[in-house]
Amino acid sequence: MCGIVGYIGDKNCTPILLNGLKKLEYRGYDSAGIAIYNTHGLKVVKCKGRLSCLEDRINEEKPYGCLGIGHTRWATHGEPNDVNSHPHISKSGNIAVVHNGIIENYLKLKEFLILQGYEFVSDTDTEVIAHLVEYHYKGDLVQAVINTISELEGSYALGVISRDSNEEFVAARKDSPLIVGLGDGENFIASDIPAILEYTRDVYILEDREIAVLRKDGVKVFNHFGTEVKKEVFHVNWDVSAAEKSGYEHFMIKEIFEEPKVVRDTINPRIKDNSIVLDDIHISPQDLENIDKIFIVACGTAYHAGIVGKYIIEKLAGIPVEVDLASEFRYRDPIINDRNLVIIISQSGETIDTLFALREAKSKGAKVLSIVNVVGSSIARESDNVLYTWAGPEIAVASTKAYNTQLAALYLIALDFAAKKGTIDAQALDRHIQSLRALPEAIEKVLSNRENIQKFAAGHYNARSIFYIGRGLDYALSMEGSLKLKEISYIHSEAYAGGELKHGTIALIEDGTLVVCSMTQDSLFEKTVSNVKEVKARGAVVMAITQEKNKRIDDIVDMVITIPDVDPFVAPIVAITAMQLFAYYMAVQKGCDVDKPRNLAKSVTVE
Ligand code: G6P
Repeated sequence: MCGIVGYIGDKNCTPILLNGLKKLEYRGYDSAGIAIYNTHGLKVVKCKGRLSCLEDRINEEKPYGCLGIGHTRWATHGEPNDVNSHPHISKSGNIAVVHNGIIENYLKLKEFLILQGYEFVSDTDTEVIAHLVEYHYKGDLVQAVINTISELEGSYALGVISRDSNEEFVAARKDSPLIVGLGDGENFIASDIPAILEYTRDVYILEDREIAVLRKDGVKVFNHFGTEVKKEVFHVNWDVSAAEKSGYEHFMIKEIFEEPKVVRDTINPRIKDNSIVLDDIHISPQDLENIDKIFIVACGTAYHAGIVGKYIIEKLAGIPVEVDLASEFRYRDPIINDRNLVIIISQSGETIDTLFALREAKSKGAKVLSIVNVVGSSIARESDNVLYTWAGPEIAVASTKAYNTQLAALYLIALDFAAKKGTIDAQALDRHIQSLRALPEAIEKVLSNRENIQKFAAGHYNARSIFYIGRGLDYALSMEGSLKLKEISYIHSEAYAGGELKHGTIALIEDGTLVVCSMTQDSLFEKTVSNVKEVKARGAVVMAITQEKNKRIDDIVDMVITIPDVDPFVAPIVAITAMQLFAYYMAVQKGCDVDKPRNLAKSVTVE
């Protein structure tokens, strides 16, 4: 959802900005640009297309300077073209701006600026910021930015440079992420840590409405009243390789291969002496007594994790759970009160729909527990309690390892709540803990048997439409499997509850239609077999995913992908790996850009 980066120091910033943008390309990739201060003024190079197009332009024009800002775009206002690309320049050419977010009152501001004699060349909301900073600029860039943001409604992360000074530049944020990297004789801004990790591990995480003034020898941070604030340095403890492909063809497959490790990292530290210990969350048995309902709110893959969460929390802890899409939750005026717990799930911790849903819940008195991957992200900071998923940086736009860890976190929460509420006995708790401990090894087995999945994908990548079916937890799992396929292979797909298919959608099944059927739930196994027979009778080709012990169904389906004999209750965490691999190999066969699928962005910071 647009990535921004900025540099001030003694080095030529062009390669630094480009490197940073490469790490942020997952946030948007329809156009890119940089603005650099040099002795002739502000040099801007920008163009439509992937970062490689910008790189070609830069190689021709060879801009040089020690202060600059860069941007990679996911278009909101105005189609992706050269003019709408960032940075945007003010009327006199004195100010250059990069922006991530949406300025909701830009039309009003534009009218005002036109009356002041400003002319607009782009269709973007961002151009108003460049002109507005110039309008307010009286020789003090910091003050001009403070005055400008006081007039902006909406969300922004900004980098602003001026032709008048190569000694400092200004950054600010509200509802869009921004960090400041603290180097030795050089300082940086970026939308996300990987962009600057090659140069420093010390960062400030800016809060909403904070303004950072960066010089090469220091950084000062102010609140929106212009008062300096003391920031704590956050030291990043993961290394650059976590955000590199490390020999894998794509980030997505690298991240799928990390699943055994990250599931282990998420679960193991939270199991002590055979009980669940969630040191990081403070919800007592008494608190749980007062909770009569849980809402789980999230978007995309995280929402699908939430649906699994509903099944397991209701089953183990006996608390009713409602699952909501964050973009719907906020506007449907949900009935929430202080007897509700809202569980927010987000990999990035920055998804704006999810963040606003969190604020809605808090404003109505509910307590918020979030499951987040990015430490220090907005959602993590605004929640009452946070349970981190230790998945490490996820770069591929399609989420994989984060989902497995979100499920792991939900199981831990369900078991913790069940133990505290006394809805589970010691023996059952022990059994579930053993099942959780067995997960990393089971995922490893799925990975080592990937060849079957690859072969099946090679024979079916031309499919026009694929249905995913399953019952209970398998239905929740199917939704995520289907989303993965859509996102990266562009094959139409729908997930259906096995028993619901016959109430309409089965009309779409014809000779050769591919159906992926999850069959990991013992109690629903025979019923799902009936659903398989229904689609087979209408000509479907069926790929089933099930435990080894059920291999015998190979006489009724066309392909069986087996997972180890894990407890059905935790099977989604293992079976999803097979589905992710299937989506991956289908997309690779089709020649799709797996890590950067069309029209998508990883961190969606617009509504
Ligand atoms: C975007 C991404 C999805 C992701 C969703 C929620 O749509 O493309 O992959 O699942 O946002 O993201 P979050 O960071 O909140 O989990």
